[in-house]
Amino acid sequence: MKIVTIIGARPQFIKASALSKLIKKQKKIKEIIIHTGQHYDYEMSKIFFNQLKIPKPKYNLNIKSNYHGEMTGKMVIEIEKVLLKEKPDYTIVYGDTNSTLAGALASKKLCIPVIHIEAGLRSFSKNMPEEINRVLTDHCSDILFTPSKLAGQNLKKEGFSKNSIIRVGDIMYDVFLTFFNKLKKNKITYDIVVTIHRPENTNSKTKMLNIIQNLNDLSHKYSILFPIHPRTKKILEKYKILKLLSKKIKVTKPMSYKNILYYLKFANLLITDSGGMQKEAFFSKTQTLTIRDETEWPETVFANWNTLVQPIKSKIYNLTLERIFLKGKKIKLYGNGNCSKIIFKTLKKISKVKSE
Ligand code: UD1
Repeated sequence: MKIVTIIGARPQFIKASALSKLIKKQKKIKEIIIHTGQHYDYEMSKIFFNQLKIPKPKYNLNIKSNYHGEMTGKMVIEIEKVLLKEKPDYTIVYGDTNSTLAGALASKKLCIPVIHIEAGLRSFSKNMPEEINRVLTDHCSDILFTPSKLAGQNLKKEGFSKNSIIRVGDIMYDVFLTFFNKLKKNKITYDIVVTIHRPENTNSKTKMLNIIQNLNDLSHKYSILFPIHPRTKKILEKYKILKLLSKKIKVTKPMSYKNILYYLKFANLLITDSGGMQKEAFFSKTQTLTIRDETEWPETVFANWNTLVQPIKSKIYNLTLERIFLKGKKIKLYGNGNCSKIIFKTLKKISKVKSE
């Protein structure tokens, strides 16, 4: 059986590494990887392939764009060409990025069945590009692997048949577990880790100014690490406000997977708007403030590990003081860390049926 896996953005490299590792070990299922090029700086792409030993993509589409429509459109065109050439039995897509949607659309239009890993998540905010990507990708998909109970419930409400939904847990947890326990305190640590990249924050100068103000105030009390996403950096430079960040805050390039887990493990708080990092903080038992109006991981909020916060004056500062040393409920929400194994077993079953 031949599978084409389509990835393009940082969190997808991490997710794909777990399953690709298992596929690589055998011969019955062949995987071909397409990298769309959505993330391209060394720190956003290559570093993950090296550290997580992801097989080299056979195709790199090199699609870089600032506009989502143009980016997604170009991806659909180029992915279609590869699919016509490779003629896979299945396509695998991960998560909710423009690369996910483009992969699902291009496949489905060619009647190639789509497997969506991390299906069923909803933030219920149609203003988020990721929410549109999630809903449309799910509706193009034939097999929907879900990370949580709630994700399955969301899909059932949208009319998906029970048979197409398989609850497997979170594939990021598999990767997390392979690294986390081995991390020992051997260099500087920070009280707070910060990551910001969502357009709903970065597209507003006022919001970004408020975030900077809050972080600067916090930097008098706590040590802060801010690995900055390339798009956020570009935008802060455009607004001419990057220089307003306190010199006490350690600003760095985006980090490797192992490094970000290290800092998260020994931090007391994560301030973020990332989807993936909310979960990684939950796994590492680090309290989180999420600068968004909603989250696709509401279980982390119910379990008292995560709080939504608006980027307004003193709000992030005050909530930090309240929550920085709090611990939430000890609870498992996203499976047992064997998600990739369950998916791999399912693929083997499908492959067996196909060859009979
Ligand atoms: C994307 C995903 C988001 C995911 C995030 C992880 C979508 C709509 N959003 O958002 O779900 O959480 O990745 O990082 O797909 N850029 C660089 N260098 C790079 C990579 C990107 O400069 O290596 C800049 C470029 O200006 C490019 C833009 O980022 O145009 C890409 O923006 P976008 O596709 O929205 O990506 P993210 O904001 O990273």
